[in-house]
Amino acid sequence: MDLRIGSLLLLQLAAAATATTTVTRTRTTTVTETTTVQAPRIFRFEPRPRMEEGGYKTCDLQRSECSIAKMPRDESTVVYPGGDTRCISEKTAYGFQVIPGDGDKLLVFFQGGGACWDAASTKRSMCVEDAYPSYMTGLLDRANAKNPYVNHTVVQLLYCSGDAFAADAADHGWTTADGDRAVQSGQQNADATFAWLRGQVGALSDLVIGGDSAGSLAAQAWGNAIFDMFPAARKTALLDSYLGVFPDGCQGNVLSEVWPMCTGPLATSLAALGLDRACAAGNLTIQKVLAATATRHADAPFAFIQSKADAVQKGFFESIALSFKSWPFLLSDSKFYERANEILLGLDALPNVVHYAVDGDMHTFTEDGLVYEADGTGPKGGGGGRTLIDWIARIAVDRVATTECAGALEDEPKWSGSTYCPRALANKTFSPTGV
Ligand SMILES: *[C@@H]1O[C@H](CO)[C@@H](O)[C@H](O)[C@H]1NC(C)=O
Ligand SMILES: *[C@@H]1O[C@H](CO)[C@@H](O)[C@H](O)[C@H]1NC(C)=O
Ligand SMILES: *[C@@H]1O[C@H](CO)[C@@H](O)[C@H](O)[C@H]1NC(C)=O
Repeated sequence: MDLRIGSLLLLQLAAAATATTTVTRTRTTTVTETTTVQAPRIFRFEPRPRMEEGGYKTCDLQRSECSIAKMPRDESTVVYPGGDTRCISEKTAYGFQVIPGDGDKLLVFFQGGGACWDAASTKRSMCVEDAYPSYMTGLLDRANAKNPYVNHTVVQLLYCSGDAFAADAADHGWTTADGDRAVQSGQQNADATFAWLRGQVGALSDLVIGGDSAGSLAAQAWGNAIFDMFPAARKTALLDSYLGVFPDGCQGNVLSEVWPMCTGPLATSLAALGLDRACAAGNLTIQKVLAATATRHADAPFAFIQSKADAVQKGFFESIALSFKSWPFLLSDSKFYERANEILLGLDALPNVVHYAVDGDMHTFTEDGLVYEADGTGPKGGGGGRTLIDWIARIAVDRVATTECAGALEDEPKWSGSTYCPRALANKTFSPTGV
């Protein structure tokens, strides 16, 4: 295991070595298969380190216009919009973190923090329940000259709704670990943020949409809406550590019923993407949203960062599969990587979708110093080849987006393990016009 202390989540291999479960399953082909599998992995949340109170300023949008122009440059202010925004528990308020920089450059970043999709996951605190600002590290680092977004104005949507900012005020009667009523209003939280932001920014030379972990899913869900709302000469989507490897058949139901995405502030964007009917029919997937968004915004690179064997994405796959009783319940690293590659192959016809693959099981890079260390051979780098930060800077500054992967090129029938690179995905380069 190679997970950081202070990472968003720690994957706990609780009792995996001792406990086993026997699963019997009948295929439609009448073959009865009995498999002994390891006990499911149990997630436990280890929230990110919290910035001390006093380490940032706050502003109440109900009492003030919270103008960016009046906030100190390169420092964090958390704005609380109030209204119909809320965290999954009403005890805490939703807010967003603003770091003023150049007025014509904007980085809209969705913070990660797990996911809650049913009563059990909510009770088990699988999602962060309160909004707190991130330390100014990783891509929020204002002192690191290697950060290509060091001069951007940053608006980070803090994540406390457990729904990847997808749900339209969903109240399923679940309770949180503290016994509060759980309501997921991620769409309302994002919508209030963008309503404020529309009054704050003018013409943009550069707009970057990003997110890590669940925030990567949110950036995919909201990308089209944001690109439409904030016209910019240059656009980029940077999607860290959530490609969307989900158990078969779960996404459609989650996106129409559990985190209702077909209604609410996102509905207009889904209609513009031609996905409103698929959503209502329970057919939506995040891959369909991404593909339609990348098609509609063909001038923007959509750049994924993905560990080949991301332990947290794999763990969420397994927890969700168990909840939805979707086979298989467990994935090997090799199977996880294979499914990720199938998704990337499905998106590969889009010239503007690229990715940076990192060997190993690390989850997320952009929120802390690893973004300056990682290369294709691992989160600590040192293996040669283009580093992660150079890849990001090349997209940001040179406007050349490439697919990077360290490992032997293999054709699909020979895929095995989790260090190879799919030959069909290799050497992709996208140079957006309109620089
Ligand atoms: C940030 O702004 C400074 C001062 O204008 C400039 O020297 C530097 O090159 C800029 N960095 C980036 C990455 O845009
Ligand atoms: C939803 O999926 C089903 C089965 O794949 C298909 O028959 C149907 O046409 C789809 N509906 C929409 C609106 O995409
Ligand atoms: C990719 O580029 C490398 C270096 O230029 C080259 O050796 C390799 O053959 C290329 N692979 C494919 C699949 O085109």
